[in-house]
Amino acid sequence: MKKKVVSFLVSGRGSNFTVVAKKIISGEIDARLGVVISDNGKAKALEIAPDFGMGSFFVDPALYSSRKDHEIAMEKLLNEHRTDLVVAAGYMRILSPYFVGKFRGRIINIHPALLPSFPGAEAQNQALKYGVKITGCTAHFIDEGTDTGPIILQAAVHIHEEDTLTSLSVKILREEHRILPLAVKYFCEGRLKIVGKSVVIK
Ligand code: GAR
Repeated sequence: MKKKVVSFLVSGRGSNFTVVAKKIISGEIDARLGVVISDNGKAKALEIAPDFGMGSFFVDPALYSSRKDHEIAMEKLLNEHRTDLVVAAGYMRILSPYFVGKFRGRIINIHPALLPSFPGAEAQNQALKYGVKITGCTAHFIDEGTDTGPIILQAAVHIHEEDTLTSLSVKILREEHRILPLAVKYFCEGRLKIVGKSVVIK
């Protein structure tokens, strides 16, 4: 089977991107690295990408008159790098139905909560404020909704009384770094099948 090309959309620190890229470099994930695209010129991930021999691009949303035009620019870069899988690794912008349609079943997102609980921004804070005792993270395919796409993997994290936003985020991130590479690995091995709302792992 031809190796899949994995590209990344990022907005910030890029720790999830780094973990996945390292596993591709080491061969633990049988894939090739594509390109890194950010909507934030200051994203740390843009600085890290060349360390992996990857091109990194800041596609500034302010330069485009519509969300679709911004996404068309990203789509062009992704296609130029023959992207098979797009990983939204801390990408903080909602992708439009146009973009989702272009990469249907080929965009994986990592979200810091146990979906369908706490979708959208600041999921760790939402969980703390709600007072749930268990939260976690979800690797899922992106569909047209906000964090509503078919779930690939989830991991649970206990919330203790002494937990703060920082301590909880660290615990969740540790699990993100475990399940996101696994979801990417399964995709690249052709083991994920979307059946309705579910993902079957073969
Ligand atoms: C991660 O916690 C990820 O789950 C979250 O942003 C962080 C990015 O960290 N994503 C979202 O909240 C998306 N709605 P990273 O840049 O170090 O990977």
